[in-house]
Amino acid sequence: MTDSKALINITNLSKVYRTDGSQTHALRDIDLTIFKGDYVTIQGPSGGGKSTLLSIIGLLDKASSGDYQISDVSVAKLSAAQMAKVRNREIGFIFQDFNLIGDMTVSQNVELPLIYRGVSKAIRKEKVAQVLKRVNMSERARHLPNQLSGGQQQRVAVARALVGSPTLLLADEPTGNLDSVNGDSVMQLLTELNEQGVTICMVTHDSRYAHFAKRTVNLFDGEVISNSINIEPHSSEQQSREPNPQNIAELMPSKIQAGA
Ligand SMILES: Nc1ncnc2c1ncn2[C@@H]1O[C@H](COP(=O)(O)OP(=O)(O)OP(=O)(O)O)[C@@H](O)[C@H]1O
Ligand SMILES: [Mg+2]
Repeated sequence: MTDSKALINITNLSKVYRTDGSQTHALRDIDLTIFKGDYVTIQGPSGGGKSTLLSIIGLLDKASSGDYQISDVSVAKLSAAQMAKVRNREIGFIFQDFNLIGDMTVSQNVELPLIYRGVSKAIRKEKVAQVLKRVNMSERARHLPNQLSGGQQQRVAVARALVGSPTLLLADEPTGNLDSVNGDSVMQLLTELNEQGVTICMVTHDSRYAHFAKRTVNLFDGEVISNSINIEPHSSEQQSREPNPQNIAELMPSKIQAGA
C-alpha cells in the first residue's frame, strides 16, 4: 500500500554532537525519502546513527545541517510550538523499553496523549477502547504495566502510539527487550498496521525482522551505505498461505526455469 507521494524527504542532512571540545559526526550527508504507506527498517552497527536519525525524523532533535521536509513542509521553518504540534498529532513513538507509566493502568497510559491534546472524555473513552481492541489488549485495560508480560506491555505502547491516528509510526528497537515469541507478535502487529495504511520507520538490530519491511536502509558511521527494496516483504497472512509454485517460479532465474 505504498503510494508514490513522499511523506519524509531528507536531503544532505548531517548531525554533529559537540561535547567538551570533542565532536561526533553522528550523521553525514543523509539522503532519504519515506513514502506514504512505506515500511522502512533502519539497520546497522551500534553507534551508526540509527537512533539519532529516528529522533530527528520524530522531531525530538534537530539536524545540524541539511534539509528535512515532512509532508512538503521544511521543518527548519517550524517554530518550537509548531514542531510540538506536528509531533503530537502526526507521529507515534515506540521504544525498546516500552516507556509506560508504572502507576497508571493500561487504559490510562493509552489515554494520556489524548488528554495532552484536549480531547473530550467521552471521545477519549471510545478511542482507547477501539485501539486496545486493535492490539488485542481489551481484557487487560485495568491492569498495571508490571502485571503484564513484556510483549503485552509493548502492545500497550503500540496502542498509545496509535491512539491519535498518527501518519507516521517510529519504532526504535521495539523487540529489543522481548523474547522471540513476543517479538514475533509485535512485528506481526506492526505489519498488519502497515497493511492498514500506517507508514512505519523502525530501527532494529535483529536481521530476522528486516524482511517484514518493504525497504531496508543500512547506516554505518553515520552514512547510508545501502537503501534497498525487499523483494518479498513478509505479509501478516504469510504464515497461513500455501506455497504457490507459480510465485516461486517467478523468483527463479530464467536459466534455472528453462532447465527445470
Ligand atoms: N546526546 C549525544 N551527545 C553526544 N554524542 C551522542 C549523543 N547521542 C548520540 N551520540 C553519538 O552519536 C553516535 C550515534 O549514536 P546513535 O545513538 O544514533 O547510534 P545507534 O545506531 O542508535 O546505536 P545503538 O545501536 O547502540 O543504539 C554515537 O557515536 C553516539 O555516541
Ligand atoms: Mg540506538
